[in-house]
Amino acid sequence: MEIFRNYTIIFIIHGITDDPRLQVIIFSLVLLIYLITLTGNMTFLLLVCFDHHLHTPMYIFLGNLSIVDMLCSTITQQNILLSFITKDKSISYIACMTQMYIFGSLTGHELLILTAMSYDRYVAICRPLLYHNIMNKRTCVLLNCACWTWGFLQVMPPLGVFYTFTCYSSMVINHFFCDILPLMKLSCNDTSLLHTFFYMECLVLIGSTPFILTFISYIFIIRNILKIRSTTGKRKAFYTCSSHLTVVLLLYTTLFSQYLAPDLKDSTKLSALFNTAAVPLLNPLIYSLKNKEVKAALRRNLVPLK
Ligand SMILES: *[C@@H]1O[C@H](CO)[C@@H](O)[C@H](O)[C@H]1NC(C)=O
Repeated sequence: MEIFRNYTIIFIIHGITDDPRLQVIIFSLVLLIYLITLTGNMTFLLLVCFDHHLHTPMYIFLGNLSIVDMLCSTITQQNILLSFITKDKSISYIACMTQMYIFGSLTGHELLILTAMSYDRYVAICRPLLYHNIMNKRTCVLLNCACWTWGFLQVMPPLGVFYTFTCYSSMVINHFFCDILPLMKLSCNDTSLLHTFFYMECLVLIGSTPFILTFISYIFIIRNILKIRSTTGKRKAFYTCSSHLTVVLLLYTTLFSQYLAPDLKDSTKLSALFNTAAVPLLNPLIYSLKNKEVKAALRRNLVPLK
């Protein structure tokens, strides 16, 4: 048993590139994106918490999504920002595992919240008369708690397997944060079991179940929208789910391109960086710019500041 030796392991996060000029550009861009992401999500969170017009299931889900987005962008961007300032690229085993754990949970969690939201949209459009009965406070709290719990539980099995690895061929992680695939590449233990495990879990638990449920909800939603006779009615129904659909498509595209990319060259790492940054950056913007309710809440709450 060499588990305890693990605690003393120090990894090096290689980051995106060795080129110092490119590093300055990447640092400035990431800092800018990070600050906009925090500001956007914080504003959204404050609106959702303090404006009682936004105390509906959809915005409660979105408030939780904003928390996930802020944590996610902090996890994925902190190494780039910190290592540029301190010139220190090392990270301890524990910190690395924690990063991997939190990132895995948050990603799973984000998929689950979006799935719960597609159910919310399904009820709103296909069962409008029962909406307040079905999506009551209790269901909403239950769904939210289930998403958080399941999100944090589902990463335990693959991380448990990873934890038994004691041998590494190199300590340099060819990525910008501790993610499971780049770390698996370093191990000289037999990773085939973990590989199978990881992809099975992605396929069955994390990826396809939320994907299929969201897909089914949207089939019902679209069928229902098509049945509406008046054009304004159609447009109104579509309008209430268009932001959600945009965010769902954005998240699935970025996840697919991130985990199905074959190798980690500088350019693929760069696109992975902007992929992981795009979702938390754009989520609050998509919801704020497209929704009349959010715009109205912004106007109500920002006027006293003038
Ligand atoms: C997150 O979800 C919980 C449970 O439904 C809710 O009580 C809380 O207000 C939500 N958080 C935000 C910031 O909306």
